[in-house]
Amino acid sequence: MSGLIHRYLHHSQWRCPSNIALVKYWGKRDEQLPLNPSLSFVLRDSYTETSVSLVRESSRKVEFSFEGRESPFAARIEKYLARLAQEAGWINKYHFRISSRNSFPHSAGIASSASSFGALALCLAEIDCTFRDCDPTDPSFFRRASEWARLGSGSASRSVFPGFSIWGRTQLFEAGSDEHAFPLEQGIHPEFLTLCDAVLLVDSSPKPVSSSAGHELMNHHLFQRSRIAQAHENLNELYLALISGDVEKFIEITENEALSLHAMMMTSRPSVVLIKPDSLELIARIRDFRQRTGIPVCFTIDAGPNIHLLSFEKNRAEVREFIETELLQFCENRRWLDDRIGRGPEKISQT
Ligand code: DP6
Repeated sequence: MSGLIHRYLHHSQWRCPSNIALVKYWGKRDEQLPLNPSLSFVLRDSYTETSVSLVRESSRKVEFSFEGRESPFAARIEKYLARLAQEAGWINKYHFRISSRNSFPHSAGIASSASSFGALALCLAEIDCTFRDCDPTDPSFFRRASEWARLGSGSASRSVFPGFSIWGRTQLFEAGSDEHAFPLEQGIHPEFLTLCDAVLLVDSSPKPVSSSAGHELMNHHLFQRSRIAQAHENLNELYLALISGDVEKFIEITENEALSLHAMMMTSRPSVVLIKPDSLELIARIRDFRQRTGIPVCFTIDAGPNIHLLSFEKNRAEVREFIETELLQFCENRRWLDDRIGRGPEKISQT
């Protein structure tokens, strides 16, 4: 094995989780800068593992394989590296061998761009450290990785930290920046560190609108200003709920954000409707279960039809039974993913 390692001039390998936003990033300007701040948490079991090797010095060349095969994603990676070379000139001087795999199935309805660009940015930022002599355990390393991840996909900026993070300028924190995310390391009420996310798969067919095209619809949206104001307000309230342990408020804001995201899409011109009748059925059942049992469950939704059912570890058994007896009938082939809040990215060392 060590013989293999020495064939590379530089090598780095990271595992990076996907994340789910509670306050949604929707709309961007310039180079992947968000119109509004967003807040998310990383998942534990849905992640991408990527390894980057610099095989030899040459003009920039990229070989990319996904799960052992050539991938159409290669063109996007090539474009991404060309952009990053403006930040790190060494990128233009190497032949790259990049390979990647996801822990979750392709059709699982989990956005893979966040974990993919998160993992790739971490590898590149680590290799960059060998050229600039910086410390890859320092917080500034992760800020840089977050910024580089953002250039690939906005939501990826929030995947390189543990637990909850915020991306975008906000009056709440001086650390808030449009360039990179930062982690909410301290002060989160312990209850929220036990969040579970059951991803209920309603429809796994490819999205009719890419997220970039979706963001663009906010540019001339009649409600743009009010949406930005709403996101700021929701972020403030959600943060207060997270530190005080206010579960009711958490539920109110989380569902409001999910439905506002879809309301923005439905009222765009042209309009986009991504939720399906079964998504609405799941929402109604989740709300009914909460009212009937008093068990704190709620939902969030990404730019797609799948429903993320959020609940707490202490209610695991009852929620699982609820999913199995009432919700799976509305899922495509009764499929769902059982995930929860995670501890963030991990460097994978070569053995
Ligand atoms: C609805 O990060 O996928 O999931 O920056 O164009 O790659 P690009 O978009 P992307 O958008 C995610 C939008 C969202 C909300 C969120 O994750 O905050």
